[in-house]
Amino acid sequence: MNRRYLMSIAAGALVAFGTGPVFAEGTVKVGVLLALTGPLQIIGTQALAGMKLYQAQHGDTVAGKKIELIIKDDGAVADASKRLAQELIVRDKVNLLAGFSVTPTAFAVAPLATKAKIPMVVTCAGTSSITERSPYVVRTSFTLPQSSSIIAEWALKNGVKKVVSIVSDYGPGIDAEKSFKGAFTKGGGEVMEELRAPLASPDFAPFLQRARDAKPDAIFVFVPSGQAGTFVKQYIERGIDQAGIELIGPGDVTDDDQLNSMGDQIIGTVTAHLYSAYHQSAKNKAFVAAFKKANPGMRPNFMAVGGYDGMHLIYEALKKTGGDTDSQKLLAAMKGMAWESPRGPISIDPETRDIIQNIYIRRVEKKDGELYNVEFETFEAVKDPAKEAKKAK
Ligand code: PHB
Repeated sequence: MNRRYLMSIAAGALVAFGTGPVFAEGTVKVGVLLALTGPLQIIGTQALAGMKLYQAQHGDTVAGKKIELIIKDDGAVADASKRLAQELIVRDKVNLLAGFSVTPTAFAVAPLATKAKIPMVVTCAGTSSITERSPYVVRTSFTLPQSSSIIAEWALKNGVKKVVSIVSDYGPGIDAEKSFKGAFTKGGGEVMEELRAPLASPDFAPFLQRARDAKPDAIFVFVPSGQAGTFVKQYIERGIDQAGIELIGPGDVTDDDQLNSMGDQIIGTVTAHLYSAYHQSAKNKAFVAAFKKANPGMRPNFMAVGGYDGMHLIYEALKKTGGDTDSQKLLAAMKGMAWESPRGPISIDPETRDIIQNIYIRRVEKKDGELYNVEFETFEAVKDPAKEAKKAK
């Protein structure tokens, strides 16, 4: 090859670099929006620790591209999330968005992802309809109906006939309340009262008192990760555990992050959920050990796993596209992707872009001196029941 020929190849390469708008850039920017301060900061703190662990284990380069996380703290406030997302899109020109600690922030940003035509990976929030708010949303967390419908079935099989429900009065709480009630009443159970507690001021005392007075077999509860400790403390203070009224619900209320400080009175509580730090797989044991080493004093919860898996989804999608950040190509790569998470086998439903995962029934037990949710029954490959019900109509 002569010199002139080589020069012309080099020039051609330069031209190609200059014209390929997204493909040519050497960095993939991921705008991460999470609550890192405020009363729900633990959600974002856990999810971010999961994301960072994934990067520490897998490096920050994929398919020749450097993956740069641009992290913003939205405090779990929808308006802040929207403003920060706008900045990330317009000023930082991010290729993807990820995070979303709570449903209102995901709702606020979904239209911006649609307008900007960039994938939005939801790693925390759990209201079913989030994935319907934008065709660019892909979820690695969970939906509340996944676990709420399954705990209803378990309760029916285990002699629970009358229930009072207490949920946080917003998206995931209402999803939990409705899906629990649907499955529980269909199987012959009775929901005596449906109570909704305001998200902003987590004083559950009046609701717990009212529930106690109704004398149900169990209280079904959904409170978001971060409020579980307060809820359980007030439940125990009222002696409800002693009154023969069980606590059941999705596993947010026995959050691995707070479970150890809840006290032994919580032992025996049965919940349905997607993740336990005690999940018995080699993958999870390695994940928990590495997480604890990187974050002294913390134990990973389901939000950490959502963050970890969100990064996996982004990394593997980029591998499939060869580093191309074209959003349609990335979304196509994400749809149907399946892998082994620390929580067990999971996949992305190619039709709905929502997560398909095992839901486990677990009982709080003391193991090696710590309180854990010990899984004893598995419902495999659960799709979001709320979307399945819509399809059936
Ligand atoms: C939500 O806002 O969607 C959310 C937050 C915390 C949870 C579950 C759902 O534990």
